[in-house]
Amino acid sequence: MKKASWRRWAPGVVGIVIAAASTAVAVNLLAPTHGERLFDGTEPLVGTLADHATPLAAVAARCTQCHAGPRRDPTVPTFGPVLDRQHLREAWSRRGGPPVAYDLASFCRVMRLGIDPAHVVLPRAMPRFAIDDERCKALWQHLTRERT
Ligand code: HEC
Repeated sequence: MKKASWRRWAPGVVGIVIAAASTAVAVNLLAPTHGERLFDGTEPLVGTLADHATPLAAVAARCTQCHAGPRRDPTVPTFGPVLDRQHLREAWSRRGGPPVAYDLASFCRVMRLGIDPAHVVLPRAMPRFAIDDERCKALWQHLTRERT
């Protein structure tokens, strides 16, 4: 009788372990990615308007202040372009230049220097960001859904 008692509670324990593991996976899947946190400003980036010495307040520099991302609400108008895979990866004429698409390197350059893949300088309203390679890649992956 005593010897076989583990047989009674073992399935319950296994069930609890499986439930805990699935909850952990679900929570992890729902948690915002690094790129999402950078995009919505939860993790602030230092952005400065061209020709200005003082960085903008973090709330003014966060991307969602001016851009909608891949999870956009189409009813909300945005000041800057909607940044998603289609906008960034398709070649088209931006600001009167020849048709160009972004890749990771040109995306990081436009973020830091405000120069697009056609070498056209972005309007001053788009801040220039002090962003390292790792964060730039995380933002790029969030916006394009690409795993580079
Ligand atoms: C204060 C407003 C503002 C903020 C904040 C801002 N942007 Fe911009 N962004 C702009 C404007 C304006 C443009 C240029 C639109 C144009 O030329 O038509 C732009 C352009 C861009 C472009 C170039 C798109 C293209 O088609 O060439 C990228 C990429 C971009 N922003 C990414 C970001 C990211 C990522 C963030 C946050 C880290 C951010 N921006 C924050 C206003 C902003």
